[in-house]
Amino acid sequence: MGETAGPKKLWIKTYGCQMNVYDSERMAEAMGGEGYVVTDRADEADMVILNTCHIREKAAEKVYSDLGRLRPLKAARPDLKIGVAGCVAQAEGAEILRRMPLVDLVVGPQSYHRLPAMAKAAAAGEKTVDTDFPAEDKFDHLPDRPAPSRGPTAFLTVQEGCDKFCSFCVVPYTRGAEVSRPAAKVLDEARGLVARGVREITLLGQNVNAYHGAGEGGEWGLGRLVRALAGIEGLERIRYTTSHPNDMDDDLIAAHGEVAELMPYLHLPVQSGSDRILKAMNRKHTAEAYLRLVERIRAARPDVLLSSDFIVGFPGETEAEFDATLDLIRAVGFGAAFSFKYSARPGTPAAERPPVPAEIADDRLQRLQALVTEQQRAAQAAMVGRTVKVLFEKPGRMPGQMVGKSDYLHAVHVADPAAMPGRIAPVRITESGPNSLGGVLAG
Ligand code: SAH
Ligand code: SF4
Ligand code: F3S
Repeated sequence: MGETAGPKKLWIKTYGCQMNVYDSERMAEAMGGEGYVVTDRADEADMVILNTCHIREKAAEKVYSDLGRLRPLKAARPDLKIGVAGCVAQAEGAEILRRMPLVDLVVGPQSYHRLPAMAKAAAAGEKTVDTDFPAEDKFDHLPDRPAPSRGPTAFLTVQEGCDKFCSFCVVPYTRGAEVSRPAAKVLDEARGLVARGVREITLLGQNVNAYHGAGEGGEWGLGRLVRALAGIEGLERIRYTTSHPNDMDDDLIAAHGEVAELMPYLHLPVQSGSDRILKAMNRKHTAEAYLRLVERIRAARPDVLLSSDFIVGFPGETEAEFDATLDLIRAVGFGAAFSFKYSARPGTPAAERPPVPAEIADDRLQRLQALVTEQQRAAQAAMVGRTVKVLFEKPGRMPGQMVGKSDYLHAVHVADPAAMPGRIAPVRITESGPNSLGGVLAG
């Protein structure tokens, strides 16, 4: 025989948003309870989980090509179990088993606490699909987070799901109705992370600023939660993502001016600068309302860096409507932005409408990205000569380099042995590259 029976190995590939990154960690912990350890090599895994994203067609199709690539691995090792989790699992369910017979289990985002039982069934040769939206809270049934933190930063999901139903978006269908976790549970989880060396927490939710968790004295908004988190000794930085413009309430805006731990970077997707398109997207805000909101946020925290998501080529978008988006970008001045060509998603209202020709959408995407890149470079160049705080995370690409994030979420590299992971230190910025800043420790 000659083989040693070590612990079983689990390889997880994560697609999509930060919520999936968080969920992958929780799945690894749940499987840890079953004796699995995480590996970064698919070829030595006993179980593979693809934690998938359904947001655009390309993301969803990639899963199928990746599954195809696992075929030889499964042929060589028939005991290998393959699971599909995440938003494609939720959207397509048992269809995945029909299309890809090598898959052993399909588990939707609300059912991860059932994964260990499903893995056992798979070991016994039984295929299972679980895409329920169960009445019980998965967080109550997932183990506490025993894994030592892999670094000084962590994600913490506080809210899931979405009730907004933007006409292009699958999230309300894949993640279900909006729910918030109770404040006490969030605070406990945060304290546990800090006890393990975490100094920065990013609060996650598909609509994080719609947070309305049960708390002392009634429901808490995100502003109140941020203030309570800021009271945790050792938690130096708080961020949150992703926000909807209509859920930025006065208390949260005020927190940006009042809570030193709340970092001056805010991802606030607007999608378009055209009121007609915004209406067709069911966004329920105008371009003007967004601009006024940005003014209020900047009044509270003048140096805040804003980022956004944009969709170009939404069905029916005219050249003038696209120009309105460029105008909005010029009016705001973003520190960063993510832009996407509209992708028709089955089951969403916008998918019924005639698309903008691909060449036109491609051209608009390029023009928008050129403008955003210009703004991103300008925001980075404005940091040169300034001293900013950096939380160091890990070694950089060059020998001797450490990389971390500034308060403004810029990647900053420093070549100095005193720049230790987990340390927050002032750095004088000396140069700005395409995607990062360089500097020297300043004290
Ligand atoms: N909850 C967040 C974003 C969720 S999805 C919000 O409300 O903004 C992340 C981004 O993907 C969206 O902001 C949007 O820009 C993009 N996106 C969503 N559906 C899309 C689609 N069908 N085609 C192209 N981009 C899409
Ligand atoms: Fe999707 Fe809109 Fe909900 Fe964001 S707010 S997750 S874009 S439906
Ligand atoms: Fe993708 Fe689901 Fe996140 S569709 S973006 S993984 S919520």
